[in-house]
Amino acid sequence: MEPDRQLDAHLPPEPAGSFEAIALLDLARGHTMALIAHLQPRALERSPDPIMSPPAWDLAHIAAYEDLWLCERLGGLGLLRADLAELYDAFSTPRAARQDLLAGFLDCNEALAYMAAVRERSKKVMRMSGPGDGKLLELVVRHELQHAETMRQTLALAAQLPPGEPPDLRIAECQRELRFTALAGGEVLIGAGPEGFAYDNERARHRRTLAPYEIATRPLSVGDWQRFERAGGYRRRALWSEEGWRWLAAQACPRHPQAPTAAADCALMHISFYEAQAIAAFHGARLPTEAEWEHAAAAGVLGHSGLVWEWVADEFDRYPGFLPDPYREYSEVFFASGYRVLRGSSWATHERLKSVSLRNWDLPERRQIFAGARLARDR
Ligand code: AVJ
Ligand code: FE
Repeated sequence: MEPDRQLDAHLPPEPAGSFEAIALLDLARGHTMALIAHLQPRALERSPDPIMSPPAWDLAHIAAYEDLWLCERLGGLGLLRADLAELYDAFSTPRAARQDLLAGFLDCNEALAYMAAVRERSKKVMRMSGPGDGKLLELVVRHELQHAETMRQTLALAAQLPPGEPPDLRIAECQRELRFTALAGGEVLIGAGPEGFAYDNERARHRRTLAPYEIATRPLSVGDWQRFERAGGYRRRALWSEEGWRWLAAQACPRHPQAPTAAADCALMHISFYEAQAIAAFHGARLPTEAEWEHAAAAGVLGHSGLVWEWVADEFDRYPGFLPDPYREYSEVFFASGYRVLRGSSWATHERLKSVSLRNWDLPERRQIFAGARLARDR
């Protein structure tokens, strides 16, 4: 077919990568919208717990983040709603302050309209100048996908997950025994290399020395937790860390209301870091360090990963050679301040986010995360 020269003459060429960029933005938005399709707007305007935001806050925050990084920083435009920047900044407006929807927050329909308006401009930026090196685009897409998991935590607390969620977390019959794989350890490389996208906290890649260790072929099951609970695990001081015991004493109910209602052969989730430590001790084991976890994941020996996040032993801290990228508040402000690391991913994590070097973090008392643990032992 003859190209239509007259028409082509009026269309500037699309910059490299703009088509893929728009497809990626659409992918994230489809994921977000599928999560809330079954809910009335009102259901998204309340949070079931002060540790979480009303989902309508997450929605507007997704838009504010995209406007900042794609439209303002990458595209050189002014903010669409500079008046909202503070309300939807995670640090200026902490979760507990997001509860009161009268305080100038957008309601659900306003938040959805804000998302759509920002999206229109960020697509325009992509069509005009393209995604550049693609880093900010990837950051924004992943940010939206991460908040979908955060909103799932909120919806789970309110018993409002979409139909069919959580999925079946059953562990395959052949892996129900609690078994361990022996690894030699030695000098290993941890962290993301310089190529491709990774979060700042995954860099720099560096050497660690591991003693020989064993790591479980599957995460903890509900059955493993039931044995702990029936043996009086919540009353046995010796199984708990000092901090964990103090935390437990302050709980009205030692068992989490969301906790282990699933069948014994399912992966355990909604346990705190403190419980993970105590359950490990009950089974004559410990939590793996994150270096042990990553080395074993890279070796392909972690069965049934991706059902639940796995608490590991370490406090969240910087790797040697860390540089904040693109901003200090992404990771740096959380380093060495009591946050614990979670490795792997959960049933609620989008495929695009998954990698062996990915590090997630939360406070050790938190149980709303889709988190369990995997046991390790010295050899
Ligand atoms: C990596 C899940 C701990 O939710 O605080 C979202 C991800 N950062 N918006 C968080 C994140 C900015 C982060 N976690
Ligand atoms: Fe965020």
